[in-house]
Amino acid sequence: MGKKIAIMVGSLSSKSINRRLAHALVKLAPADVTFEFVEIGDLPLYNYDDDANPAESVKRVKAQINAADAVLLVTPEYNRSIPAALKNAVDHVSRPYGDNTWKNKIGAIIGTSPGGVGAALAQNHLRQVLNAQGTILLQGPDAYLQFTDALLTADGSVGEGSRAFLQSWLDKFLAFVDTNAAKA
Ligand code: FNR
Repeated sequence: MGKKIAIMVGSLSSKSINRRLAHALVKLAPADVTFEFVEIGDLPLYNYDDDANPAESVKRVKAQINAADAVLLVTPEYNRSIPAALKNAVDHVSRPYGDNTWKNKIGAIIGTSPGGVGAALAQNHLRQVLNAQGTILLQGPDAYLQFTDALLTADGSVGEGSRAFLQSWLDKFLAFVDTNAAKA
């Protein structure tokens, strides 16, 4: 079934390994799935004083999440948690009070880091945050990906050693989107 997936990458770096991972995952999807990257680098720091008069970037990000059938969150691990930029985006999307765009939104979390933990702590923090917002998250298989040069090829595809796992992970996510969208 054709569907639209919003992708939120937690890193602001132009060299982000998580952004590269996100683009490689897009290549594994069937042609009837469309992806839209949700940029979070131009969001102001969240301040509820601005709830009544949100910045254009805030309106854009909320509208992109709203319009998507599901959200794929690709998070780095910074100091054993998610980057501040990603938490800031999560807070924006959850507000103003009563207009929480995370509620009943279908989602999945994935991430990579060069460390052996493969961004597991950040992914679990993000899961805890979004569970509290009522996001319907894919519950495994966990994808704690240790970044090595072999994870992605020079042309930006998933490397041979991880392809079967990540193809299966993405297929499960897309099936999860269909199942939960049908229930809604
Ligand atoms: C890191 N890094 C890191 N890695 C990890 O596995 N656990 C951690 O707690 C941290 N902490 C951390 C803090 C800060 C401020 C930075 C900048 C980095 C290393 C991190 O995984 C690595 O820089 C990745 O390249 C970050 O992903 P992106 O931003 O390239 O997608």
